[in-house]
Order: sequence, then C-alpha cells, then structure tokens
Amino acid sequence: MAGRVAGKVALVIGAGTKVGGWGNGKASAVLYGREGARVCATDLDAGAAEETAGIIRSEGGTAIAVAGDATRAGDIKRMVDACMTEWGRIDILHNNVGAAVPGGVVETSEADWDAYMALNLKSAFLACKLVVPIMERQGGGAIVNIASIAGIRFLDRPFVSYQASKAAMIEMSRAIAVQHAATGVRCNAVLPGLMRTPLVERRIERQYKTEAKRAEAMQARERAIPMRKMGDAWDTAWAALFLASDEARYVTGTEIVVDGGLTAKCV
Ligand SMILES: NC(=O)c1ccc[n+]([C@@H]2O[C@H](COP(=O)([O-])OP(=O)(O)OC[C@H]3O[C@@H](n4cnc5c(N)ncnc54)[C@H](O)[C@@H]3O)[C@@H](O)[C@H]2O)c1
Repeated sequence: MAGRVAGKVALVIGAGTKVGGWGNGKASAVLYGREGARVCATDLDAGAAEETAGIIRSEGGTAIAVAGDATRAGDIKRMVDACMTEWGRIDILHNNVGAAVPGGVVETSEADWDAYMALNLKSAFLACKLVVPIMERQGGGAIVNIASIAGIRFLDRPFVSYQASKAAMIEMSRAIAVQHAATGVRCNAVLPGLMRTPLVERRIERQYKTEAKRAEAMQARERAIPMRKMGDAWDTAWAALFLASDEARYVTGTEIVVDGGLTAKCV
C-alpha cells in the first residue's frame, strides 16, 4: 500500500520530538513522507523539525524544516508561506501541537489556562484559518487535528485546560468540516488514548521519583485498557494517514478514537 498520499503536500505542525524516540507528530510526518507526500516539518525547536525532515530525506523522501511557535499568527504564516513557496500547495494540514498541565478548575492558574488554550486550540485555529482558503482555491484538502480521548472522557485525574481545549478542538473540527465540505475541504480529528510516547514517559518520570513507582504507574495504565497495552505514536500516525489520504474521501466531520477500547469501557 505504498504511495497512499503520493503527490500531496503535507504541512505538519509540531513534527518533532525534543527528547528522541517517536512522538505522534514525528511519526505522522515520517509516515506521510514514506507514503509519498512532500512534507513541511515545523516545530518550535528548530533541531527537532530538522531531525524529522532529515529522516524523511534519508529515506528518499522530500521534506523541508521550518522553526516557529504555532501559537503566534506570524509564525504560522511563515510555515504556510514556506510550504507555498516550495511547492505551491497544501493538501494535508496536520495539527499536532499540544500538551497538558495537571489541575482542576480550582488549581489551574489563569496564566496556565490561557497558555494551554493557546497551545492546544489556538494553534490549530490559526493554521486552519490560513490553510482552508488555500485548500478551497485548490479544490480540496484534508485537515487532521490531533485531539485526545481527554476531550470526550474524564480520565484518572483532572487536566481541565487540556480536557476543555481538546473538546473544543473536536467541535472546531466538525464546524470547519460542515462549513467547508462543499468545497472539497475535509476536516477530522484523531483522538489518541493512553499512548506510550516520549511526552508521556517524561510526564511519568516527573511525577514518580523511583523506577518501581514508574513501572507501577505504567502497569496501571495498561491494566485500565481493554487491549491491556498502550498504543504508540505509529498507531496515531496510521489513523492520521487514513484521514489524510483519498481513501477517506467521503469522511469528514468525524473522529477516529485510537485507544485500545478504553472509551468503550464503562467501569
Ligand atoms: N502521547 C499521548 O499519550 C497522547 C495522548 C492523546 C493525545 N496526544 C496529543 O498528541 C499531540 C502531541 O504528541 P507528540 O507525541 O508528538 O508530542 P511531543 O511533545 O513529542 O511533540 C510535540 C512537538 O511539538 C513541539 N511544540 C511544542 N510547542 C510548540 C509550539 N508552540 N509551536 C510549535 N511546535 C511546538 C515540540 O517541540 C515537540 O517537538 C498533542 O496534541 C497531544 O495532546 C498525545
């Protein structure tokens, strides 16, 4: 099934991983490259963006790297302009940027609320705002927004700014999909569950001081999942690839949950 996005141009926002290994954005960017897309890998961290673009090129694909902060309109414009200057089109917009800070509504500071809303939601809004008109002029395109099952379920602890921003991202995706469906622009979300990515490993390391406690925390996550294992970045990437490809040409305004059955379970 090689070449599933052959000939397309993909703009991936948050395409790196700062700590090595495979994050959702990096795996998605590399998978788009493997399946024939030309990839603009963007990241706050210039080295992380360059690393992802380098992997794609080393595998024979085509990629450029752009550094920028996705919460700033000017930086998003630079990313979009770089893509347009290089290839003159954008067929796939993949919004991956996002992170969580623990805390319920009482514990979360106003500054954290604003910062995480900007990171998880405004970044995707800014990118869609610029890219939708480009896709419309081309006669179509696919937007893939990486949300989370935290946008539809309360997980083990409160992360109110994360939950609220991911829920809003899901509804924003549906609103874009409906408004622009007739012009050929599709917009869908991927909702990863408890994935084993560098982001999560870092969070567990910060939270639990000993190796035994960390192993216990990982095992507890696995026990909670009907498939009894965490997913990884490639599971997110394969769902994104389907939504970005023409195989999903009649799929818009919906979500793919990638969680090993977790949200289907009621305990
Ligand atoms: N890992 C999980 O278990 C899990 C579960 C559900 C959803 N998600 C979602 O997946 C996405 C992240 O996944 P990941 O594994 O790629 O994370 P990651 O942290 O490994 O990578 C994200 C990349 O985004 C970059 N970034 C951070 N802030 C940025 C900004 N302001 N502008 C541009 N780039 C920025 C980082 O430098 C990093 O390279 C998030 O949206 C997250 O909410 C993850």
